[in-house]
Amino acid sequence: MSPASVVTPPHDLELSLSYNDGALFSLSWCVGGSRIVYDTDSTEVAAALLRRRVEMTLDEFTACLIEELPLGPAQVFAIVADLAQCGFFGAGAPHASRHEWIRFGWADALAAHRATASSGPVPLRSGQPRRYRPESDDIISLPKPVPLTAHYGEVRSRRRTHRDFQGSTASLVDVATIAAWALPKEQPLVGYFLFDGLEHESAPSQRFATYAYDPDSHGLTFVSATDEIREWSSLLWGQTFGNGAPVGFVLAVDWRQYMWTYRTPRAYRWVFSDFGSSMHRAITVANALGLNAFQTASIDDSRVCALLKLDPGVVYPGYWANFGRTSAV
Ligand SMILES: Cc1cc2nc3c(=O)[nH]c(=O)nc-3n(C[C@H](O)[C@H](O)[C@H](O)COP(=O)(O)O)c2cc1C
Repeated sequence: MSPASVVTPPHDLELSLSYNDGALFSLSWCVGGSRIVYDTDSTEVAAALLRRRVEMTLDEFTACLIEELPLGPAQVFAIVADLAQCGFFGAGAPHASRHEWIRFGWADALAAHRATASSGPVPLRSGQPRRYRPESDDIISLPKPVPLTAHYGEVRSRRRTHRDFQGSTASLVDVATIAAWALPKEQPLVGYFLFDGLEHESAPSQRFATYAYDPDSHGLTFVSATDEIREWSSLLWGQTFGNGAPVGFVLAVDWRQYMWTYRTPRAYRWVFSDFGSSMHRAITVANALGLNAFQTASIDDSRVCALLKLDPGVVYPGYWANFGRTSAV
């Protein structure tokens, strides 16, 4: 690149705190679908780069930095060479897909998507945080899971999303079996079972009651009960498909476990794959037991968090299912 080349700084330059130990700020931008990160410890360098928005020659760009920064010319030349090497001047026009995301009002999601692009995991650290468990002495011991006798191929062939649960039933053995399969101890997920009229001696008198599954004791820890909820649809943005089902099931993520295990923001996306695989297990097991399932990720966050007494920045509920045994399976 010659000093007279016309250069355009990236149109989508963003500033964040650096994820890399030893660096203070990250400036990032996209080239095509890839995200490029330039780390600096200098507030002045970060600010000067963020100010550069217009086309100019490389010479003019360098002269601006020499004027603005409390650095000698040799240091500025080195910074400009670093920037050129990592593609600061070659980003080109915004990628067409960017406009689509913004046009549909997905600018927030685009920012999250971009912020987590091109980041790989770093090795495990010591000091795993304690797994999140709600505190309560009110615990229901679950019965032993029953062995699954149905043939996998047969279960798979009749699996369909179910949308009519009126008059359906379920037992604690069903819950115990689904929980034991879907939520093994080492999972960084927290599973909640919600009951619409649980028939059990220690069940609260209110209609809707929520419990967290504790894989260590294979028990349910009481979380909350309410008379204010009449139908599952009031937690699902009005979707009525699960109404009438005796059991709701919520998968939530324990963020600290993820943050500790994978020190990369990309792990944010892996949470959703884990939700999917764990729910797939839950649904398959439910089907094997003769229950039907309706699943949705369209959860009313604040209502479900209030019911489960969760701060979504600590434990976030992301995937929902209703289970019930109807006469025609
Ligand atoms: C992640 C996920 C979320 C879903 N969310 C909804 C939903 O919000 N509303 C709905 O009616 N169906 C929802 N479904 C059900 C799908 O629409 C359904 O699975 C699809 O129509 C395929 O039908 P099948 O499951 O009978 O094969 C969801 C399915 C999945 C896997």
